[in-house]
Amino acid sequence: MKKLFLPLLFIIPVLLQGQGMWLPLLLEKQNEKDMKSKGMKISADDLYNLNKPSIKDAICMFGGGCTGELISGDGLLLTNHHCGFGSIQRLSSLEHNYVEDGYWAKSRDEEIPAPGLTATFVSRIEDVTALALQNVSETMAEADRQSQIDKNLDLLRRTTKREKWEDVMIRPFYDGNQYFLFVTKTYRDLRFVGAPPSSIGKFGADTDNWVWPRHTGDFSMFRVYADKDGHPADYATDNEPYHPAHFLPISLNGVETGDFTMVYGFPGRTNEYLTGAAVKQVSEVVDPARVEVRDKALKIMDGFMRKDPAIKIAYIAKFAGTANGWKKWIGEIQGLKTYKALEKKAEYEAEFSRRVNENADYKYRYGNLLPRLQELIQEIEPYIKGREYFYEACVRNNDLLSKAAELSKLIDIFESSGETMLVGKIEDASKRMDGFYKDYYPEVDKAVFAGIMEIFANNTKGDWGADYVKEQAGNRSGYEGLADYIFSRSVIPDKVKMQELLSKAPTEVVEKLRKDPAIVFWNTLYNAYTNQIQPKIQELQPQIDLLQRKYMAAQMVVFKEKKFFPDANSTLRLTYGKVNGYSPRDALQYEFQTDLDGVMEKYIPGDYEFDVPQKLIDLWKAKDYGQYATPDGRLPVGFIATNHTTGGNSGSPALDAKGNLIGLNFDRVWEGTMSDLNYDPAICRNIMVDVRYVLFIIDKFGGAGYLLDEMKLVKSKKKRRKR
Ligand code: ARG
Ligand code: ASP
Repeated sequence: MKKLFLPLLFIIPVLLQGQGMWLPLLLEKQNEKDMKSKGMKISADDLYNLNKPSIKDAICMFGGGCTGELISGDGLLLTNHHCGFGSIQRLSSLEHNYVEDGYWAKSRDEEIPAPGLTATFVSRIEDVTALALQNVSETMAEADRQSQIDKNLDLLRRTTKREKWEDVMIRPFYDGNQYFLFVTKTYRDLRFVGAPPSSIGKFGADTDNWVWPRHTGDFSMFRVYADKDGHPADYATDNEPYHPAHFLPISLNGVETGDFTMVYGFPGRTNEYLTGAAVKQVSEVVDPARVEVRDKALKIMDGFMRKDPAIKIAYIAKFAGTANGWKKWIGEIQGLKTYKALEKKAEYEAEFSRRVNENADYKYRYGNLLPRLQELIQEIEPYIKGREYFYEACVRNNDLLSKAAELSKLIDIFESSGETMLVGKIEDASKRMDGFYKDYYPEVDKAVFAGIMEIFANNTKGDWGADYVKEQAGNRSGYEGLADYIFSRSVIPDKVKMQELLSKAPTEVVEKLRKDPAIVFWNTLYNAYTNQIQPKIQELQPQIDLLQRKYMAAQMVVFKEKKFFPDANSTLRLTYGKVNGYSPRDALQYEFQTDLDGVMEKYIPGDYEFDVPQKLIDLWKAKDYGQYATPDGRLPVGFIATNHTTGGNSGSPALDAKGNLIGLNFDRVWEGTMSDLNYDPAICRNIMVDVRYVLFIIDKFGGAGYLLDEMKLVKSKKKRRKR
């Protein structure tokens, strides 16, 4: 014990340092002093306030999964290129390829409605823990506890004061130990204002994804429209630009090492308070399973995409989405290992246990938590592994079987509700077909199927589907033979056959679907999953969740000196840190900033990831950077800082000490992708595109400088020191 104690004195302060995604309404109590000591020039009140305009009024959840921010009094919104990508793609046509070529509205009339896009702002946040947990006791059975909480939340939702255009959302925090309520308003009329071409907005694509140094101009621009009272409304030609209570001024002063920065946005999900056993399971079971299946699927897709430009276009979005997770998990596995996450957790848990054992009350309440969690995590492990292989190989990366799953529901509906119900469902299924086949090549899917079904069979248990798949493959002289057999006999791979079938009488549709070999195959695997894997997870997971909730509460009691931020849960948070490079390996030091010269270093003419538009080359040659250049004449592109971010923070504003916009968050560095489980301030950095590059692209490259007229640019007279 003694021996352990010394390093711990060192470790605990490290755990307190430079991490956290904090709740805006608690900043004053929890962080303001620390933030000011680190350089913040405004107060917590300026970031979040209910009685006067504050910075939160300029921040929104964009399109459900990203963050956006308003930069003008007329609702001009900035977010990432990869966040607007789907909408921009849907607005594109053969004549107008806004994704490839970019777009800039030359006036408000040319702003293009983007149906389905939303921007959600937070009106206020309340701690409703006491009400949510009313009549809930520690000794209650879990099911009773949950139904009491559901009742409480329901009442809260109904009785919370809100305007008729506002919504109420309540979320659990700290693994269910606290509850916070958010009153929000969601704007539904968003219009596309502009974006750079992909060769800027997606520069470096998958090769550079999750990597520093980075040179991506990852931004796009929209405008939020409202009814004449400024409230959310469906799209209408006479809607008006939204006038927010606050919008972000933009700083042209640039950043230097050590500068205070904040990122304000909607981080999606982190798990910083798991036990070592749980982190081990992620890095040794969950991540490797996902990586193995996707590795195969990606290699096969890539082979086809390189040979056939039409396939490349069809698969590029699917590929990017699959590769994004794949690459992150590879980085996560490596980072957890290199930066000794398990060793750190072990020391932390040893200190936890030491403190618990010293205190009779703690010992009684928390003494059993860690050993019991460890047992349960071990017990659930094979099922988690089975679930991951099933999901990745039979659902997520398998178009044939995903479609089979969908169609097989038609059979269920017929069996449970009869023919009349079925008619409408068949129509719905037909409607979805165009979207499916638009970007579908059976030869690609077949090759992927053969590759990943073999991985599935080799990694799951005999009666969980492995025996069946192996036997089927044996009957057809291997996995390719099996794929040939199923793909040539199923209706799914063939659009024409599929349409023909769905136009038949409902009973005939069901008759044919029942015999379809893809559906038979899917049902066998799905039944194995629902009978052998799912029930065990449904039995064990709630027990783990319960203990994790208690462990979370226990950590907050036992480590009284430590400040705990709640794990990300797609709610509004603020994180702060400083601009800083990092050293990923011995003798290697990354600087904090990249510039346009670096874009040109990476330039590969004609390459789909590293091509550069001619106009950008011309501007670079002429060094025509205007007011966006650094004092030594370079054009900044990206920079990094120690802000603690995760997926969902994309598009979030990076703010300086005064709350001015200095950049847009869009990624994290390779060595720090483990930060969702093990944030390490020495190595974890968030990546932002410098707002001067954004303005340069809008103004000098895009010729849409008129948009700057409605922004508020700030530039201090003080000369910044040169680099
Ligand atoms: N890695 C970033 C994030 O998780 C950017 C992803 C978009 N870029 C890409 N090449 N797929 O969302
Ligand atoms: N790229 C992520 C996003 O889209 C951000 C991150 O994971 O760092 O939200």
